[in-house]
This record gives sequence, structure tokens and C-alpha cells, in this order.
Amino acid sequence: MTRIRRLPDTLVNKIAAGEVVERPASAVKELVENALDAGARVVAVDLRDGGGALVRVADDGYGMTAEELPVALERHATSKLAHDEDLDAIATLGFRGEALAAICAVSRFTVTSRARAAAEGLRLAGEGGVVGQRLAVPAEVGTTVEVHDLFFNTPARLKFLKATTTELAASLRVVAQLALAHPEVQFRVTNGGRAALTAPAAADLRQRIGALWSWETAERLLGVDRTEHGVRVHGWASPPDVTRGGRDDIVLIVNGRPVRDPALLQAVLAAYRPLLPRDRFPLVVLAVTMAPADVDVNVHPTKAWVRFRQPRVVQEMLVAALHEALRRPGVVPTFGGEPRAWPTASEHGTIDTGAAPAGQPALFQEAPAPYATRRFGRVLGQVQDTFIVATTEEEVFFLDQHVVHERVIFEQVRSQLAAGALPSQALLFAETLELGPASRALLERWREPLERLGFAFEGFGGDAVVLRAVPTLLKGDEPKRLIEGAVEELSDPKVTTPTLDRALAFVACRAAIKASTPLALEEMQRLVADLETTETPYFCPHGRPIVSRVSMHDIRRELKRTW
Ligand SMILES: Nc1ncnc2c1ncn2[C@@H]1O[C@H](COP(=O)(O)OP(=O)(O)OP(=O)(O)O)[C@@H](O)[C@H]1O
Ligand SMILES: [Mg+2]
Repeated sequence: MTRIRRLPDTLVNKIAAGEVVERPASAVKELVENALDAGARVVAVDLRDGGGALVRVADDGYGMTAEELPVALERHATSKLAHDEDLDAIATLGFRGEALAAICAVSRFTVTSRARAAAEGLRLAGEGGVVGQRLAVPAEVGTTVEVHDLFFNTPARLKFLKATTTELAASLRVVAQLALAHPEVQFRVTNGGRAALTAPAAADLRQRIGALWSWETAERLLGVDRTEHGVRVHGWASPPDVTRGGRDDIVLIVNGRPVRDPALLQAVLAAYRPLLPRDRFPLVVLAVTMAPADVDVNVHPTKAWVRFRQPRVVQEMLVAALHEALRRPGVVPTFGGEPRAWPTASEHGTIDTGAAPAGQPALFQEAPAPYATRRFGRVLGQVQDTFIVATTEEEVFFLDQHVVHERVIFEQVRSQLAAGALPSQALLFAETLELGPASRALLERWREPLERLGFAFEGFGGDAVVLRAVPTLLKGDEPKRLIEGAVEELSDPKVTTPTLDRALAFVACRAAIKASTPLALEEMQRLVADLETTETPYFCPHGRPIVSRVSMHDIRRELKRTW
């Protein structure tokens, strides 16, 4: 008696289908992706009962020949990979050669296709993965796949289907995301014969967003476009006063593929965090493009997750690109007054990314910003000797005093630097620093920016480095501890090339008042007033948020105040 046996193909396919086809929306996703891979300009999706009774996807792509079509329905049959190496740089949405086989395994199906050069089309029909009918038919160039009675032969899966409206919503979400990834393609979805989504071919992404979300929304969005380290992040993002109650309208697209990537989503939320109340979320569509070899899409059967070769770089790029857009003049909402510009002439505020501000003299201009003084309103006091509380008519702010001061010092020193090196305090007794070779090498690499900030070193090359002077700002610090702190902070693997801004962020952090320090009201007022004149009052030089806010609107709602 054999206890171990090989499974029949039909059963293998059913099992595999369990991974790929979770619900009607999965079939919609796979079929629409196939249409896009086939170069379709028009994709029509017709559903019945939210897809449970029928999913039909018709495209005008290049189709399949009578020889190709039967093969396409087999497992592990694909035209998208030919060699092992192809798997390392995937440029199509599909590549597993599995979707059609999986969908057909758990449905009653009809696939009709006509290739460009063919005089007529071929139709294959069957159920449970077995083709029962083969028919030559007249057809337009392209492919139409009909999936009836999904999960008719997998009752366990069928039981898990949700209400029709829920399934329909899932399919619409899938199509909307693919439509945002491919604005040039026309999409149409119906359910029970009624139009559910219409997106005509768009000239660009913004137009597509307008068609899907609303023109008013699309008009308010801020353009995002940044290219660095071989990665381009481009798309549209909402200003802080255009928000939603959920995260559904944060769409991240990697090389044409909408992805679910928790780290990228967190990066988006982090960029907005100080600007939005906790329960509000931005609208964001960002297309990330990079060399196909830098991203692995072969991570999960549904291909919705990806793995980046350099995930940190991509996350930081996203944050930097969004910061850049959010810092543009006029972006931050007014508190009842006139629309207001950021108090700066510069739009190049790449401060916390460590990018060198070379050739951007505008960065160093003093900020004439009388209109900005009411940004945080009136200072009320201090909580836990750490947070300054301030309020306007509309909001209550909690400002982290250390981070506020850090930002203020950072920008003040930066404008001083434009005029020359920073004031330096010679040490009465030069401090000999016994450092390990790694720390010595690190200090030597950072020597130039550190010396511009007022440090003076000697004796690189020998075993010990001699510290002769420190920035006047830091004269109260114990020199040895100061250098140890610098070595520790600058050896962070995220900090690769020495930049003046990065060294300055360190100095600002050391010089700033600490948490748990009681402050007098005037000191707090002074700090907040200084913060209001900075270019970037919402982030510290390392990118940490400075402000947490609560809207009075929410407070009134929670306390059931009717005015
Ligand atoms: N709409 C279509 N137009 C033209 N060719 C198609 C279409 N759908 C499928 N094909 C062909 O059938 C093959 C199998 O499709 P299937 O979706 O099963 O696999 P895949 O797209 O290659 O990979 P994946 O399983 O990752 O989707 C494709 O490689 C493609 O050559
Ligand atoms: Mg496919």
C-alpha cells in the first residue's frame, strides 16, 4: 500500500489556486494585469454579483494564437520569462505562469482570443481546469476571459465570500489602483450592467486622479517629483487640509505595479505625521521607478508585496520627496487668515536628508515672516517640563522643546555660516583624544565640516587626535564627551557622505535645551516665536517631528459641543 501518492493535476491546480485566487477581486487583478501586459489600450471589466457570479475582462491587446491559447491555460506556462536570469529583472506584471490556470481551476471559464495576424479567434471553454470545448469564432483582436461561478468546486472558499457590495468594492479598489498605475489605458467597470467605474484614457496621472477621485481633489494635490540614487518618486500628494478617514487613498506603485509595502506606507505616514491629526490620512499616489533588478517581485503568489535591494533608500526618498512638496509656499493651511507662504525664499529645503545645499544661496536668506507669527498662537505653558503647549482658535499644539530649539539653532547657525565660519572657542588645555583607528578615520572624513562649525583638530596620522577648539555654542560641554557623541552619531550607517548639514544637525542637537528642563513663560514664548520664523517648523534637522496637534473641531465633537 502506498501512503504517499502524487496528486492529480486538477487537485494540484486547485491547491495552487488557493494561493492566487482569494476572492473575485483577485481574478479581476490577474486578468487586468494580463491585459496590461498584452499592451491593451482599453480594458473592460464586467461583473455580476460583485464578481461572484461573473467576472469578465475584455482587452484589445495583442491576443494569443490558436497554438498559444491552450498552453496559456496550463500551469507554469508563461511568455514572460524565458531564462533563469529573467527572474532577476522582471518588467511585466505577470511572470509566474500561474494565474490563468489557477482561475480556470476554480471556475467555469471561457477564454476567447485572437492574435493580430490571425483571421479568426479561438474559444476554449470548460470548468474546474478542464477544457471541454474548443471552437473557432469570429472575434476582435484581443482577449476576453469569462469566469463564471468562481469557487463552485471549492465550497470552503465560497463560504468565505463577503457581501456582494464588499466584493465589488474590493474589485473596484484593484482596478482603480491599476488604473492609477497606467493612466494612458482606458478602464471601465460595470456590475450587473451598471457603470461602476469609468476612466477614459488620460494624458497624465493627475487627469486620471481627477477622473477617479474628483476634479476638485485633483486640483488641490501637490506635485511630487524627485530623482536620486537611481530611484524616481513621482506623483501627487494632498496638502494637509485635504484628508480622508482611512488609508485607502494612499496608493504606492513600484515599476507600474501597485504594491502593499508596510514600510513604504509608514514612510508616507511619517512624512505627514506632524501635519495631520491622528485619525486623518492623506491622499497620495506615488509611482516609484527604479531598475527592475533593484526590486524583487517574486516574494508572494499574489505579487502585491515586493522586496527592495535597498529598502532604506526607497523609504527615505519617499519621505524627502513628500517633505519637499509639503514645504512649498502656501501649502500649510492658515488658521482663519489669508493663504500664507512659507517664510522663506527657498523651495529647496532638503535639510534632513543630508543633501548638500551647494549653489543654493537662497537657502541662507533670512526669513522675513511677520505673517507667520500666529502659526502656533498663544503659549499656555509647559507639560512634564518637556512639551510646550500653545493654542490657536482651531488647534492645540504640543511642541517638543528640545526639538524646537534644535530646529531654531540649526537654521540660525546655517545663516551665520553663510557669512563665514562659526565662532570658535579655543580650549585652554588642548584635549588629546585616544580613539580607535575606526573612530579616527571617521573623524578625519568629517574633519572639514566639523572645522567649519568651529572644531579644530590636529595630529591625524598619529595614534591620537588633538582637539584644540570647539564651537562657541558647545563650550559648556565636556570636550571628550562631545567628540564621543559626534563619533557615535556620525557613524550611523545611514549617514554615508559627510555633509555640513549633517554635522550641523549634531551640533544643534548638542546645543539645544534638553527635555525635563523647566522653562519660564518668556523663554517658551521666545522659542516658539523663533520657531515660527524657521523655514521648516514641523521637523527637526534629523527629520523628527516637532509638533503634535489636536484640532478643536475634534475636541468639540468628542465633547458633543454643538458650536
Ligand atoms: N489578456 C491576454 N492577452 C494576451 N496574452 C495573454 C493574456 N492573458 C494571458 N496571456 C498569455 O498567457 C500566459 C499565461 O498567463 P498567466 O496569467 O497564467 O501567467 P503570467 O501572466 O505569465 O504570469 P502570472 O501567473 O504571474 O500572472 C501569459 O504569459 C501570456 O503569454
Ligand atoms: Mg498573468
